[in-house]
Amino acid sequence: MKDQYQSISAQYSHARKDDVTVFLETPSVQSALGDVSGARAIDFACGTGHFSRLMKKLGATYVLGVDLSPAMIAAAREAERENPLGIVYEVSDAATTAVFGAFDVATAVFLFNYAKDEQTLAQMFASVAANVSPGGRLIAVVPNPDFVNGRDDLLPYGYVLEEISKGPENLRVRMSFVGDDFSIEFTQWSRRAYENALERAGFADARWSLFAVTKEGLERYGQKFWDPILANPKSVVLSARRKPA
Ligand SMILES: C[S@@+](CC[C@H](N)C(=O)[O-])C[C@H]1O[C@@H](n2cnc3c(N)ncnc32)[C@H](O)[C@@H]1O
Repeated sequence: MKDQYQSISAQYSHARKDDVTVFLETPSVQSALGDVSGARAIDFACGTGHFSRLMKKLGATYVLGVDLSPAMIAAAREAERENPLGIVYEVSDAATTAVFGAFDVATAVFLFNYAKDEQTLAQMFASVAANVSPGGRLIAVVPNPDFVNGRDDLLPYGYVLEEISKGPENLRVRMSFVGDDFSIEFTQWSRRAYENALERAGFADARWSLFAVTKEGLERYGQKFWDPILANPKSVVLSARRKPA
């Protein structure tokens, strides 16, 4: 698969300090994760390791971060060298099945939107399932299948989204980061496509949950700032459990 992140790992790491990350996305993933103390965790599409570090800090005993991009893995390893937490990072394409072990919990924050077709989407879910123990959990963040793009809706949060093309089960979207001079392309899959892929990979109990803003986020910016993104969320948490053997 193409590495869109080859030259932008530094900017991306920086982008992970934005308000949506801090006050909305990270706390929402944390609440979906619940208690991970003592868990073995794998973070698919770990990027620079934001959610790998979150799980380690929340008490996971072993965390492996995997990503397609050597540049992102290099940046994640650099962060590990600067502040050692005991996280292991490996380059790996989630669209090909590599088995690293039997993990209690897997995260995949913005992985599935890189599947260009439903076959690749199915392969990604199968490869996640191959690394999750029966009864183990998947916590994913995906572009909201119900998101309605209006031109400047996300400007206050630092993004602009443009629709590039449309298929029966997906929208192809370009996301530009305002002021950072870089953009990425991804696929907004339908709910049906995700639920089919989950079912085929042996996951059950699919649950969609909306992001919630923290008290600190409300205090800092006020409810009005958050209303547009809460009313029309650009991403949602999709969680599921691997069926028992
Ligand atoms: C938007 S970033 C998210 C990174 C991290 N999960 C986070 O939330 O900070 C998407 C990541 O997906 C990775 N990625 C894209 N396709 C992938 C694939 N087929 N297998 C593994 N990682 C992939 C990219 O290299 C990039 O690091």
